[in-house]
Amino acid sequence: MSHLMNTYGRQAVAFEKGEGAWLWDTNGKRYLDALAGIAVNGLGHAHPRLVKAIADQAGKVIHTSNIYQVPLQETLAARLAAISGMDKTFFCNSGAEANEAAIKLARLYGTKKGIEEPAIIVMEKAWHGRTIATLAATGSAKASAGFGKPISGFLRVPYNNLDAIQTVADQHPEVVAVLFEPIQGEGGIRLADIEYQRALHSFCRERGLLYMVDEVQCGIGRTGAWFGFQHTGILPDVMSLAKGLGSGVPIGACVAAGVAAEVFQPGTHGTTFGGGPLVCAAALETLAVMEDEHLLIRAESLGHRMITGLEAALSAQPGVKEIRGHGLMIGVELDRPCAALVALALEKGLLINVTQDSVVRLLPPLILKDEEADQIISILVPLIQAFLKT
Ligand SMILES: Cc1ncc(COP(=O)(O)O)c(C=O)c1O
Repeated sequence: MSHLMNTYGRQAVAFEKGEGAWLWDTNGKRYLDALAGIAVNGLGHAHPRLVKAIADQAGKVIHTSNIYQVPLQETLAARLAAISGMDKTFFCNSGAEANEAAIKLARLYGTKKGIEEPAIIVMEKAWHGRTIATLAATGSAKASAGFGKPISGFLRVPYNNLDAIQTVADQHPEVVAVLFEPIQGEGGIRLADIEYQRALHSFCRERGLLYMVDEVQCGIGRTGAWFGFQHTGILPDVMSLAKGLGSGVPIGACVAAGVAAEVFQPGTHGTTFGGGPLVCAAALETLAVMEDEHLLIRAESLGHRMITGLEAALSAQPGVKEIRGHGLMIGVELDRPCAALVALALEKGLLINVTQDSVVRLLPPLILKDEEADQIISILVPLIQAFLKT
């Protein structure tokens, strides 16, 4: 009997070592990792610089507390400010916590303006986490089932639809912010139109609403820019980060600009572990390696290569509805549920994921080589073709 709570339907495989884009299971079988721990291991596995940075820092100091100065946290916040153009960061430990911070920040921003019950506009099929507040922001009936009435303060609209946002904002003067993913990951690799994002940003400016982007999955280089919003040329008020930031050590960040960066004051928000020296060392080294190895450019060109390759092989294939993505965030939508493909790929030594029942999701590490990108396609394409024939 397992003593783990039964929260996951796990694949029957355990990995004991990794290198680059490859993982080895406990029987010595090798797998090509096209999932990167769900968009976490951007540097792949066991990157020597990351391993050294973590080991060096562990030998100095792992944790102190946020009641003291944490110089590495200051350095990381400055680095995030430099690459995002935003101002200040609150560090925490996960994507859900980064969004919790963003939600609390927006609520405080509202109450400071005299709005008693501030509300945030969120999207259909959004994924923001599984805490009670982020679950209410998340647009998944399945994830919310059984947990009682969702907390109030969220108003949901269809993705990519500015009219719907205008209507809700007109009807609800208590709206203080809009929160959305520039690319929905769990929602099935759905991309927000660039023009929509720009128009939404102008709308938020006009109405004094905070424009908040959840970049937990699409941030940290995955789309070929440091952050997804950078493809639009606009600056958000708030951005949440996690996943790729620490390359596998748990770190989350709520980054803010302008007035939003000044909302929290001592006593309004906090965490024991957030932004400790160990995770900050890992995140700083992650960003440094990404720059030194030109991983943003690589993500862009690899994404192009993979999407082109998938289109060439699958776009005329009956049963394939759409191939879409940006950089190394790629989805192949089929016309039927295809969760079975995960185990079939595993058998062939390839790690993939299926989301929204029918979207094959690829989130490979950014250090992927061209030939590995081609190998992912050459394993995946026949699997999809065979699957669609059954
Ligand atoms: C866009 C987005 N936001 C938030 C989260 C939640 O992050 P975490 O699982 O680290 O709490 C996820 C996780 O998949 C995500 O994709």
